[in-house]
Amino acid sequence: MADKKANIKLDNGESIDLPIYTPTLGKEVIDVAPIASHGHFTFDPGFVATASCESKITFIDGEKGTLLYRGYPIDQLAEKSNFLESSYLLLNGELPTQTEFVAFEKNIKQHTMVHQQINQFFNGFRRDAHPMAVMVGVVGALSAFYHDSLDIKNAEDRMISAYRLIAKMPTIAAMCYKYSIGQPFVCPDNSLNYAENFLNMMFSVPSEPYDINPVLAKAIDRIFILHADHEQNASTSTVRLAGSTGANPFACISSGITALWGPAHGGANEAVLNMLREIGDVSKVGEYVKRARDKNDPFRLMGFGHRVYKNYDPRATVMRETCHEVLSSLDAKEQPLFQLAMELEKIALEDEYFVDKKLYPNVDFYSGLTLSALGIPSNMFTVIFALARTVGWISHWNEMVSQPSFKIGRPRQLYTGSDIRDYQTISKR
Ligand code: SDX
Repeated sequence: MADKKANIKLDNGESIDLPIYTPTLGKEVIDVAPIASHGHFTFDPGFVATASCESKITFIDGEKGTLLYRGYPIDQLAEKSNFLESSYLLLNGELPTQTEFVAFEKNIKQHTMVHQQINQFFNGFRRDAHPMAVMVGVVGALSAFYHDSLDIKNAEDRMISAYRLIAKMPTIAAMCYKYSIGQPFVCPDNSLNYAENFLNMMFSVPSEPYDINPVLAKAIDRIFILHADHEQNASTSTVRLAGSTGANPFACISSGITALWGPAHGGANEAVLNMLREIGDVSKVGEYVKRARDKNDPFRLMGFGHRVYKNYDPRATVMRETCHEVLSSLDAKEQPLFQLAMELEKIALEDEYFVDKKLYPNVDFYSGLTLSALGIPSNMFTVIFALARTVGWISHWNEMVSQPSFKIGRPRQLYTGSDIRDYQTISKR
């Protein structure tokens, strides 16, 4: 793979050749492993300049605002594909034929129910527990039910665990919501497609019929596609690190859900709605944009900025269109919260601080508004993000674990603590 090399010279005269690897797309990488044999570590807190692995799943070009799932542009998949087909693509590397898709959908539908005893888990939580706390607990416990498929060296076992997770996340997500509002759980209905089934489990009640709005079903399916994968983001890197120890896939996905919860990552969509409610009125937008620019003020505009995208997040472009479609179909464009968000978007896109720092609205800025319009409470937004991202997480886990050469991830550090010293008895301190 190395057809070029870099060279570094140390003060002591040592010269180290470092192989350079050429990608299909994107930046070349310098293999710094040889540095260790010369008594040094590299130092890159936050992994701003670090490629943690080789992957064939998703490619992002932050400068151009490009996002590809196995080479296919996200806007084409959002317009022409559906979430299950995109899940097959992420997991297997190619779009399915009609026969392959029918078989995949059947495999998923066979696993949409959860073991009946899992229902008891929920009773241990307070009704007002954050749904993410419940989801972390329930998903982490799934390995207690599926001992028959935990041999991570077995490709079939890895695939059955992937099917189970993709199939059960909507059921568990809807159960988290139903439990929080004191309504009975709704069983999966395999006569519905993936998105319709999720809406039905979320919003139908046994006492009356529930008509699925096709515009809303298409919108939620598109939200799932947009959130399905995103290269080596914080939660995917967490899943990979957990998986590198040989932990079972359910435990690894549970660690990904935990990492996603943070407001700097997947918790941002909920934080956007909380921020809009805090701003409260269009007249206050200028004051909050000013606060976001102030280095001494910890306030940041939630839903703006991205570690990789220094151009418009391509998902945000699609999400913005979907947001307007949903709000128009619900005749909700006059909603104060939406009006406030559009004013904030306008000001931020024209503000020199945001323009200079290339802080554009990201996918979370519009997904929160759309989910809110769909009648989903903001504390469920990251649960839905986790539902969609599960196929990305399990695809990366599978890609890593299926490599015979994979090894445990174990970073080193720059130690700046105390030098060695002897213990002093308490009378001498
Ligand atoms: C997701 O990694 C992924 O791919 C994540 C994700 C995925 O699909 O997995 O895309 C999902 O997490 C999207 C991001 C959602 N988070 C938010 O919307 C929270 C608000 N955004 C920021 O917290 C921030 O932009 C981050 C965390 C997203 C990115 O932070 P970085 O790359 O570490 O950049 P930074 O914090 O160093 O910011 C660079 C500069 C700083 O100013 P200086 O110190 O250089 O003067 O920009 C400023 C920051 O202060 N800045 C902001 C800002 N974001 C960055 N200032 C005001 N408001 C903001 N939102």
